[in-house]
Amino acid sequence: MALDMSPQQKELGKQNFRQATKELSRRGFLKGLLAGSAALPVAAAAYYGYQYEKLQGKPVRTALIGAGDEGGVLVGEHNPKYLEFVAYSDIRPYNQKRIFEGEKVPSPRRGFNFHYGNDAEKKIKKFDDYKQLLADTSLGIEAVVIALPLHLHAPVAIEALEAGKHVLCEKLMAWNIKQCKDMIATADRTGKILTIGHQRHYSLLYAQASEAIKSAILGDIKHIRALWHRNNSWPKVDKDGKVIAGSLRDGWKPDIQPQDREALEADIRKRGYKSMEELVRWRLFNRTGGGLMAELGSHQLDACSIFLGKAHPLAVSGVGGKFFYTDDREVDDHVFVTFEFPGPNYYHKDKEGKPTKDIDNKNDIVVVTYSSVNTNSFEKYGECVMGSRGTMVVEQEQSVMLFGEPDPNLKEPAAPRATAVGVTSGPAGQPVLESTASYGGSSGPPGTKPAGAPADTSEPVSRGYREEMEHFAYCIRMEQEAPSDEKRRWQLEPHCHGRVAMADAIIALTSNQAMRKHERIVFKDEWFDPAKSAEVPDPDMIPEVIKG
Ligand SMILES: NC(=O)c1ccc[n+]([C@@H]2O[C@H](COP(=O)([O-])OP(=O)(O)OC[C@H]3O[C@@H](n4cnc5c(N)ncnc54)[C@H](O)[C@@H]3O)[C@@H](O)[C@H]2O)c1
Repeated sequence: MALDMSPQQKELGKQNFRQATKELSRRGFLKGLLAGSAALPVAAAAYYGYQYEKLQGKPVRTALIGAGDEGGVLVGEHNPKYLEFVAYSDIRPYNQKRIFEGEKVPSPRRGFNFHYGNDAEKKIKKFDDYKQLLADTSLGIEAVVIALPLHLHAPVAIEALEAGKHVLCEKLMAWNIKQCKDMIATADRTGKILTIGHQRHYSLLYAQASEAIKSAILGDIKHIRALWHRNNSWPKVDKDGKVIAGSLRDGWKPDIQPQDREALEADIRKRGYKSMEELVRWRLFNRTGGGLMAELGSHQLDACSIFLGKAHPLAVSGVGGKFFYTDDREVDDHVFVTFEFPGPNYYHKDKEGKPTKDIDNKNDIVVVTYSSVNTNSFEKYGECVMGSRGTMVVEQEQSVMLFGEPDPNLKEPAAPRATAVGVTSGPAGQPVLESTASYGGSSGPPGTKPAGAPADTSEPVSRGYREEMEHFAYCIRMEQEAPSDEKRRWQLEPHCHGRVAMADAIIALTSNQAMRKHERIVFKDEWFDPAKSAEVPDPDMIPEVIKG
């Protein structure tokens, strides 16, 4: 996603990262399991500390609530040895069919039939009403996976926890901070596991990247640039290639399928929706969605917070608006946000090295900029971490590239995009980036590799969905083994448990408010504290469904 990189330079950056992780691992700065293993499921289980044996051949009996696009991805990626789907609920006939049949490769939506055979419909019970699914006692449902529109996350997750189910709910955790706190309180009270689907917490690629950043090879980090850019300005064409007047290729405005309209239109309000548009295109409306920051930005700010040691931001400001679309949507189509995060020396540290609330160096700020646009796809999506000694680029959850900064003290400072780097020891034994060989200037023709660079042998990298669900199942079984041991229970929490995911939600929701109010908003500590009563920054933003 860096503006001006050729394929050759990208290949070099990937090679640099592979080399650096190997050397960091050899020097003990990276868990050995991470070196060169981003694609291996076995490595993931070992790294995240779970074992299939602990499930004793008893996968967790699970129900899916919301079998749309993302429900389909989760079904496609799940491992039936860990989670066995025995029921599901959805209200759209189109998706009720698709969740079994799946879609053609390379779509990750492989469908229930792929995992459970062509008679899967006999094994996986359908519920039109999720309340009946939660009330069912015949199927032994232990856990639910929720992939519903945003406004339903909190109410359905809370009902499921109250019904004694463990919950994996898709991101964004909830529509506002109060709902997040209610979800956490309910999980604590019922003793059930609650985790949220920010899958980067289970991506070995991100684990490698963040451990490399923690080793400080990038030097002093003052800026991270994250973005998710798409171009939805192209018109749709019909099957004969003819442009459909007034239409746009827009994933957030999918077609309303005739069978859904026929089946649901008459009583759409009884289903909790104002219109078919609101059900199918829920991302476009404030009552049901949270806009670009909730849908896309939350993932990447989650990644940035991980890179910065799971720090909470200090303040946010931004500009956003409906700059492109002229239809009835309510959410912004372009967002540009700037966050101020505390650097490593911002807070005073106690004797154990943990940050306190006292400020040591108020100038130690890391600025994170995020943009999401709908009218240009030149850069696609990713994060670029800029340090005084190097730059790391994470591209589309699939690859990490590393480049060194040129050392001006050298006679011939290395050109970062054309120079191989490795890791060596600095004067205090700390790992430092070192230029090892120059591949000689600018890029060759597209697709060529730098001389001497080994081929990129990496397989497609898991984005973390499978591992997220496997670990969820493992935590459930382990929790059952030692339910009374509180300490053990918290050690076995999924990585993106409620308190982690609440921070991601606060960041996304507050960004929306900063843009809406044209204000720089300072984050308050109590927002991030589940025990403190939720002070909702903007009470007017509570959706009707929650007001009752
Ligand atoms: N982790 C990720 O990378 C990722 C990616 C995409 C979406 N998501 C999240 O997944 C969730 C779902 O997104 P999606 O793209 O699948 O949306 P979608 O519209 O394709 O699917 C939502 C499904 O929920 C069903 N539904 C709505 N109300 C219902 C009800 N009352 N009872 C039962 N079913 C109901 C709809 O019929 C639909 O099939 C969202 O929260 C979204 O943010 C996460």
